[in-house]
Amino acid sequence: MPDHKLGMAAPRLAAAPVRRMIDGRMSSDPQPADLEVRIWRGRAQGRFERYSVPRRANQTVLDVVTWVQRHREPALAYRFACRVGVCGSCAMTVNGKPRWTCRTHVARVAAKGALTLEPLRNLPVIKDLATDMTPFFEKWQGAGGRFAGSQTRQDPLARVEPASPERQQVDAGIECINCGVCTAACDVVAWRDDYLGPAALNRAWTLVNDVRHAERRALLHKVAADGGCHSCHTQGSCTEHCPVGLDPSGAVSGLKRTTLLSLLREPAP
Ligand code: SF4
Ligand code: SF4
Ligand code: FES
Repeated sequence: MPDHKLGMAAPRLAAAPVRRMIDGRMSSDPQPADLEVRIWRGRAQGRFERYSVPRRANQTVLDVVTWVQRHREPALAYRFACRVGVCGSCAMTVNGKPRWTCRTHVARVAAKGALTLEPLRNLPVIKDLATDMTPFFEKWQGAGGRFAGSQTRQDPLARVEPASPERQQVDAGIECINCGVCTAACDVVAWRDDYLGPAALNRAWTLVNDVRHAERRALLHKVAADGGCHSCHTQGSCTEHCPVGLDPSGAVSGLKRTTLLSLLREPAP
């Protein structure tokens, strides 16, 4: 094991506590000079490796991972693109909770200077911190998450008034960035491989409310089937963790109500 990893003979810098700028302000408490970071290395089988990472003002968890990859472990696998909370690709498990790492400041989640980083739960691990998102997007397809229009290129643009209730229900869920955080936070996804999960069902709910969508009935049948919305326990972990403030739990509840009403109106043959 190289001597840069903690626990080896390499000298630790600045053992004495110091006052420093954290998140743009002078910290009132003494801060350790370095972060103690444990990172999962491997696939389903693997181990934690330890690294000592310099603290910086306004440092994000993604900054920490990038520092380790650039200065200590060139082969460390992780994923990011935009760094500004748009692409949804940087999500990981940070000190036990799923989070987007480019918008998570170290000062908020590691007050004592210790970070444990793992891949997102409930998805296969490709390597280290990178998960395979294939099952996540397959569930989108399984929930009927593809928009189907009813108009042609020659028709005028379909207009849904921004202030209308129909449009506002769509807008409430449309900003999903597909980060997978809600899926990682959901116990039912962990228990049942066939559960469509909060992100796919949130997408389905936006389409149910989209008056332009031509396949709303078929979609309701898909999400009402086994492994669909009625498997949700409504405990709200998805909503609690969604980094962009969506309410997948509320979306699933909306699907439950709508599928039951639709069954009463049109009983299954
Ligand atoms: S509310 Fe439903 S979808 Fe959300 S985390 Fe709980 S079980 Fe999963
Ligand atoms: S609903 Fe929220 S947590 Fe789930 S994938 Fe979309 S943005 Fe991420
Ligand atoms: S890197 Fe794009 S959301 Fe974090």
